[in-house]
Amino acid sequence: MDITLQILRQSHRNIPPELKVYRLSVPESTTILDCLNQIKWQQDGSLAFRKNCRNTICGSCAITINGRSALACKENVGSEIKRLQDIDPDSHNEPVLAIAPLKNMPIIKDLVVDMQGFWDNLEKVEPYVSTASRAIPEREFLQTPAERAQLNQTGNCILCGACYSECNAVAVNPKFAGPHALAKAQRMVVDSRDNNTDQRLENYHDPEFGVWACTRCYQCNSVCPQEVAPMDQITQIKGALLQQKDPKEHRTVRHRKTLINLVKDGGWIDERRFAFLVMGLQGVSEIFPLGWRMLTHGKLPISFEASPGATEVKGLIEQVESLIESGSDNPVK
Ligand code: SF4
Ligand code: SF4
Ligand code: FES
Repeated sequence: MDITLQILRQSHRNIPPELKVYRLSVPESTTILDCLNQIKWQQDGSLAFRKNCRNTICGSCAITINGRSALACKENVGSEIKRLQDIDPDSHNEPVLAIAPLKNMPIIKDLVVDMQGFWDNLEKVEPYVSTASRAIPEREFLQTPAERAQLNQTGNCILCGACYSECNAVAVNPKFAGPHALAKAQRMVVDSRDNNTDQRLENYHDPEFGVWACTRCYQCNSVCPQEVAPMDQITQIKGALLQQKDPKEHRTVRHRKTLINLVKDGGWIDERRFAFLVMGLQGVSEIFPLGWRMLTHGKLPISFEASPGATEVKGLIEQVESLIESGSDNPVK
């Protein structure tokens, strides 16, 4: 079939990007990586992109395809056209695939980005089983099959950067570790051989670097080609922190617990009590100008009525809480 690839190209990070158009005639099963290879080998040898295994193993070829970060060697022309038609069923024109580099990382050239920040953030979660626990020399550190199974999902990460590219928290907060790093962090928290859990949790609790800076937008889960589900891993770390930290001392923990308690009480949040319970009188007085503007624009509710489904909501929350107390691995399931 005949297709058009519009590739966003940039010869240097300080030079504005240009859209270059290439036409190909390829079967639907052709991967996007093979399309890029054809362009490079037959039309324009100056096109720069990364690749290695061609088999969704090495993570090198992640780019943006029609606005979504993905592996070029995993997606093919047919799957991308179907995705475009699902978004716009009326489009019957010759398919146009928009190709661009990953987001949230500086461009080196064309589709090649500088991943230094990505690697630096991974390093900051200390992604190694603690050496202190390895100091005993007599034998290897054995794990039961159940203990090992806890590492399977996060162990599938191929460090492709697709989640980091889509992450809204990374886009606005340069200190945030990123979904890849926090997924790895959860792998270390649950590793039975590691004896550094308390110090790790302290690190992952940092309000700007750690799990509380995640906006729960779900983008990382949605694009990850290996089903690592980074947002779910972040949620697991939050669960460990909620059990460990005193809400009186930590606003992030107080925020989460207050939210749950208010929803349990009224089926939804009583925003008037929420601010006071989380921030206290002094905190609320600091944001008084904002509160006043909200009040005068009708954005701050004066009264509160419980949701009609409050009893059912309370029952659901209590069921989840009792599953957590009973030690269920994933109460959400
Ligand atoms: S978590 Fe998924 S998307 Fe993110 S780097 Fe790992 S494999 Fe790629
Ligand atoms: S869910 Fe959190 S970590 Fe994942 S992409 Fe959104 S903000 Fe980033
Ligand atoms: S080339 Fe290795 S994952 Fe695509």
